[in-house]
Amino acid sequence: SALTAVKIVEVGPRDGLQNEKSVIPPEVKIELINRLNRAGLTTIEAGSFVSPKWVPQMAGTADVISRMERVPGSSYPVLVPNLKGLELLLDLLAKHPPGAGTPPPTDEIAIFTAATEGFCKANTNCSIAESLERLEAVTKKALDHGLRVRGYVSVVIDCPYEGRVSQTKVRDVTKALLDMGCYEVSLGDTVGTGTPAQVRALLETLMSGASAMPAGKLAGHYHDTFGTAVANIMASLDMGLRTFDASVGGLGGCPYSPGATGNVATEDVVYALRDSKYTTGADLDAVVDVGDWISKKLNRRNASRAGTATLAK
Ligand code: HMG
Ligand code: MG
Repeated sequence: SALTAVKIVEVGPRDGLQNEKSVIPPEVKIELINRLNRAGLTTIEAGSFVSPKWVPQMAGTADVISRMERVPGSSYPVLVPNLKGLELLLDLLAKHPPGAGTPPPTDEIAIFTAATEGFCKANTNCSIAESLERLEAVTKKALDHGLRVRGYVSVVIDCPYEGRVSQTKVRDVTKALLDMGCYEVSLGDTVGTGTPAQVRALLETLMSGASAMPAGKLAGHYHDTFGTAVANIMASLDMGLRTFDASVGGLGGCPYSPGATGNVATEDVVYALRDSKYTTGADLDAVVDVGDWISKKLNRRNASRAGTATLAK
């Protein structure tokens, strides 16, 4: 029988690297993206156009996305928090007009907000309502320029500042992002405490009732702090979701979520779906090699269980 496609959004070069303390040279970021692409990952979040005062590590994103290999059919979304970030991106894209031979640096942005006031303030210095207003203007302008817009909602399970998060709040914020024109919203378990039962209950809330959203408009972005991220993905697959964010080598951690570890490791997701009815299109051994390479480059422990076990064989 035919296999069902599962889309992995590789967020290692963005979510994975944004929290690293030492300055990572652009050459390493570029090589990471190129290697991930060659390993069969075709959606790679390549960086952020955020304030360099807030996240210094992402300051060189314009340079990185201008110089990385751009493969037709692959996409390289970048985070944009406000109109200032979008304008900087549009300036860059104006230097890469269509028909110039290679594809433009990117054709997609990701906007982000949160389900709690505390996290929204810590991450973007404004209230949820202000953030939605800001993001509506960003989305409109991005769509006008032919960019695709993906949304993120942070802290969908627990918040480092407010504890357990209201599911109806997650629902309302997710709905607002879809209504303004996001093609999909990625649900962030930023702290990585979520369990399959909690994820199921949340998705049931989002996918039922008067404002029910279809599974195809939702994605899972699960940090793996408590080791439940792969289980949460399996639960989400059962609920109909088909897109999941992952980070090679389990890189990462959020600067505004103290103690939270990286995203679920890409290797762990690819391994868990082996011999199933799902296919990711990624080559496990090749992704394992990328995880090994970047962990050594960053002098960091490889946080992928499937990666380290494969390498030990
Ligand atoms: P602010 O300080 O309120 O904004 O920050 P501001 O307008 O006062 O600007 C402050 C300075 O930054 C000014 O420079 C601006 O020009 C500059 P100055 O005049 O002082 O020299 N600036 C910018 N520079 C470049 N690009 C820009 C930009 N905007 C302002 N876009 C702001 C508000 C939203 C800008 C700030 O809070 C910010 O950049 N936040 C982003 C934080 C971030 O990137 N967090 C990590 C990503 S989200 C995440 O990891 C969660 C996710 O993975 C899902 C999950 O796991 O939950 C997606
Ligand atoms: Mg994240």
